[in-house]
Amino acid sequence: MLNKICFSFLVLVTLLATSYSALASEEVNVYSYRQPFLVKPLFDEFTKQSGVKVNVVFAKKGMAERLAREGEYSPADVLLTTDISRLVELHDKSLLQAVDSNKLEQAISEQFRANDDTWFALTTRVRNIYSAKRLGNIELSYEDLADPKYKGRVCTRSGKHAYNVALVSSMIATHGEAKTLEWLEGVKTNLARKPQGNDRGQVQAIHQNLCDLAIGNSYYFGKMQTNKDQQVWAEAVNINFPNQDNRGAHVNISGVAMAKYAPNKANALALMEFLVSEQAQQMYAETNMEYPVRDGVKWSERVASWGEFKADNLSLETIAKHRKAALTLLDKAKFDL
Ligand SMILES: [Fe+2]
Repeated sequence: MLNKICFSFLVLVTLLATSYSALASEEVNVYSYRQPFLVKPLFDEFTKQSGVKVNVVFAKKGMAERLAREGEYSPADVLLTTDISRLVELHDKSLLQAVDSNKLEQAISEQFRANDDTWFALTTRVRNIYSAKRLGNIELSYEDLADPKYKGRVCTRSGKHAYNVALVSSMIATHGEAKTLEWLEGVKTNLARKPQGNDRGQVQAIHQNLCDLAIGNSYYFGKMQTNKDQQVWAEAVNINFPNQDNRGAHVNISGVAMAKYAPNKANALALMEFLVSEQAQQMYAETNMEYPVRDGVKWSERVASWGEFKADNLSLETIAKHRKAALTLLDKAKFDL
């Protein structure tokens, strides 16, 4: 009797395992910091083309902690996030696996993917300087933010926000730590108010005549232009692409990676490759008003209307490398205090 029970149990387990893997092969699980409105249309299209169902867990924070907690039992296959710092955090905590794919390599230039193939950019965004229209058409560099002629006229969110940390890292890569500290102290002296709020809040402050220059990501210009309450903020500024005379504007990314213990590896790879296809690139960049990472994909009409620009070709790996030093310098300059 006992033998029979054991055997039935075994059969049941085997059956369960079989049906689970059959099911699993048609699914892919995504953990996403990117919002539903942005990724849902892409996943729907992927499912339509591949028959693979996409399950998504949306979160605002805690992805690395969750993956670490779940360990090898994590259901996560594909991870979607913005900003190089978050991708590198996942990498440094050994939560990613390398992905060997010609399609990914061909679509994404080296500047925008990990040396060890553990993460890949999907879109890029510029860290712009927004200037008050009352200043007229001016050319600006990040270095200009420390120019004494803008004393009391610069607004920014916290220096420690990932977007600004990456910008400071790019300054370190270009000028070294000592010069970057000087620059940070100069920018701090020029601040109209303590760093606060988000990127759009700085453009609002220009509209309110609290400042003349604000640091903010490119896609927020489009978000303000298409928001009826914020349109007036966007109308008060010009979007400047800094450092056009030299190295070009600082660029950050949104990206994708495969989770270390991805249970649906083949489907994860298929989804990642789909995300760099021309069609997906256009959809993805257009919805959030970012720039496609794949060359030759048309920019959205609105994004194109902001003009062509030269981008800094500093690799994101290099930017990530200077992150710790950037945080130390921000502390030294007491930037947020
Ligand atoms: Fe953002």
